[in-house]
Amino acid sequence: MQTQDRYFLTGGQGFIGAWIAKQLLLAGSSCVLFDLKPDDGILAQVFDEDELRQLERVYGDVGDTEVVRKALDASQATNVIHLAGLQIPTCRSQPLLGARVNVIGTLNIFEAVRQSGGRVKNVVYASSAAVAGSSGDYKGPIADDTPHVPRTHYGVFKTANEGSARVYWLDHGIPSVGLRPLAVYGVGREVGVTSGPTKAIKAALLRRPYTIGFSGQTAFNYVEDAARIFIDCSKAAREGAQALNMRGEYLTVEEFAKLVEREVPGSAGLIRVSGGPIPVAYDFVEPGLEKLLGRVPHTPVADGVHRTAQRFRRLLELGKLRDQDLAT
Ligand SMILES: NC(=O)c1ccc[n+]([C@@H]2O[C@H](COP(=O)([O-])OP(=O)(O)OC[C@H]3O[C@@H](n4cnc5c(N)ncnc54)[C@H](O)[C@@H]3O)[C@@H](O)[C@H]2O)c1
Repeated sequence: MQTQDRYFLTGGQGFIGAWIAKQLLLAGSSCVLFDLKPDDGILAQVFDEDELRQLERVYGDVGDTEVVRKALDASQATNVIHLAGLQIPTCRSQPLLGARVNVIGTLNIFEAVRQSGGRVKNVVYASSAAVAGSSGDYKGPIADDTPHVPRTHYGVFKTANEGSARVYWLDHGIPSVGLRPLAVYGVGREVGVTSGPTKAIKAALLRRPYTIGFSGQTAFNYVEDAARIFIDCSKAAREGAQALNMRGEYLTVEEFAKLVEREVPGSAGLIRVSGGPIPVAYDFVEPGLEKLLGRVPHTPVADGVHRTAQRFRRLLELGKLRDQDLAT
């Protein structure tokens, strides 16, 4: 059944965006996907063909103020979920571009919301656990309001966005929630430092050797949980500018690789783990999210790996499994 909310979803063609779009579509919610340029590569892994045809799209650069203002205005959206952004490797190699997309892009979203004259109720945006820097920088679990020392340009940009969101609440009363996932995995995860675990599932099914390029303990978030949390925060956020941890499930990359081997019979020895830990802490608590949502979904990693493998198997049967990301 159609609800009255209408969502403007930036980065809607990306990994997390595709799953948010899918859940909105299945719930009968109205949604416009905003992304840089047409590319259905990830969406086609998550949606069936008939579902894909139902999606509403707008294309433009989130770094362009006027483009964003006009697109949001034309959409007549009531809720904004803002995901468009560049990840750690691109922000590391091209920090100016990273700042334009991740920082100016987020300011453009808030400006466009400000100019909507109250039609848009709130902004839920992707921050990141990378605001936190390394585990060694902290003693004990990291709370929502623990001061951060990010170790990447990406983390610095996300920290700036959390600050901007706070100021838009103080100056203009725009409610917002920034969410801080860590290693999100699932079908469609093709880009970024922590995409290795998902690629390992795909490689195992294709019986190809694959090396996950980081090791050690981290926190894994299954993508359908992440998508649910973004949508539920959009429904719940009425005041304040909250920046909230998403706890995920802690395990080592090596343990994740073992779960992949268990899920895919005959894949033993194909998945290797090399390199050091990522410069992002993992030991988060999420009291803010629990308070806002009541119940926070936490799919156990073994189940998330199974669901991901099942979808990959289906895509393989249909001859639609993309594998070009295994080379990156
Ligand atoms: N995947 C994770 O583990 C993870 C963890 C923490 C935070 N995040 C954040 O969540 C958000 C979504 O992540 P994802 O994994 O879906 O990433 P993704 O790379 O799959 O998707 C990002 C989307 O943003 C779009 N985009 C990039 N530049 C743009 C521009 N200039 N204008 C318009 N659109 C543009 C891309 O085309 C892409 O569709 C990002 O902001 C990311 O930083 C992701």
